[in-house]
Amino acid sequence: MPFLKSIRSIPECVDRSKFPFSIPILSHGLDLEFSKNVTFFVGENGSGKSTILEAIAEGCGFNHSGGNRNHSYASSDSGSSLASALHFSWMPKVTNGFFMRAESFYNFATYIDELAEDDSSILQAYGGKSLHHQSHGESFLALFTNHFSRGIYVLDEPEAALSPNRQLAFLALIHELESSGKAQFIIASHSPMLLSYPDAVIFSLDGEQITEVSVQETEHYRITKDFLDNPDRFFRHLFAE
Ligand SMILES: Nc1ncnc2c1ncn2[C@@H]1O[C@H](COP(=O)(O)OP(=O)(O)O)[C@@H](O)[C@H]1O
Ligand SMILES: [Mg+2]
Repeated sequence: MPFLKSIRSIPECVDRSKFPFSIPILSHGLDLEFSKNVTFFVGENGSGKSTILEAIAEGCGFNHSGGNRNHSYASSDSGSSLASALHFSWMPKVTNGFFMRAESFYNFATYIDELAEDDSSILQAYGGKSLHHQSHGESFLALFTNHFSRGIYVLDEPEAALSPNRQLAFLALIHELESSGKAQFIIASHSPMLLSYPDAVIFSLDGEQITEVSVQETEHYRITKDFLDNPDRFFRHLFAE
């Protein structure tokens, strides 16, 4: 069972005239139950996935630009105003885990290198060498493989760095950790491969309100499948003069 059971906005905090409740999907507040250990958020660019993930990460006590409770490197933005408007229900409350924003992974890698200057054993948790000296995909997987254990993992588009083969390896890792009840994953993704994880809930942000959908109902799955089944049909439309 998931550690984080639900998040709900506190009604008096919902002000549609200001960010974040000015985002259409949040205009009536937020009310989400987490019934499985793996939850995905899908939605168009700008639909609000990162805003929600950042608030969840902040509610977990993680640095909102990526990392865990012990990682407190400097970051340019201020905290999320959504987190302070939410009520979090936990059973039990876990404090271990990780938030990964794809955009701030570089800063995170630099921060780990700085820590390792004082204590090189730190790099053992990240595959034994600087995250800057591994390819993007290698360093992501090193992080996943070496760091992830019991806890809650909030990941913003982790597929960005992963080849299809590494996405499969990542799916196996999710399975290993979540099926044994050690980990909860909350992931924003555009990857039809990741979204196909068999025992996940997918929340779509593409309608008037957040709804649960199957992977086959997502645009990500349908467009990718239709495209690969017959790319010429798409090109005839796309390249029409
Ligand atoms: N700090 C902010 N202030 C005002 N608007 C913001 C802020 N951060 C994001 N937005 C807007 O909120 C919307 C949702 O953004 P985001 O959560 O990043 O979407 P997604 O991750 O789904 O692409 C976008 O229209 C974005 O421009
Ligand atoms: Mg985003």
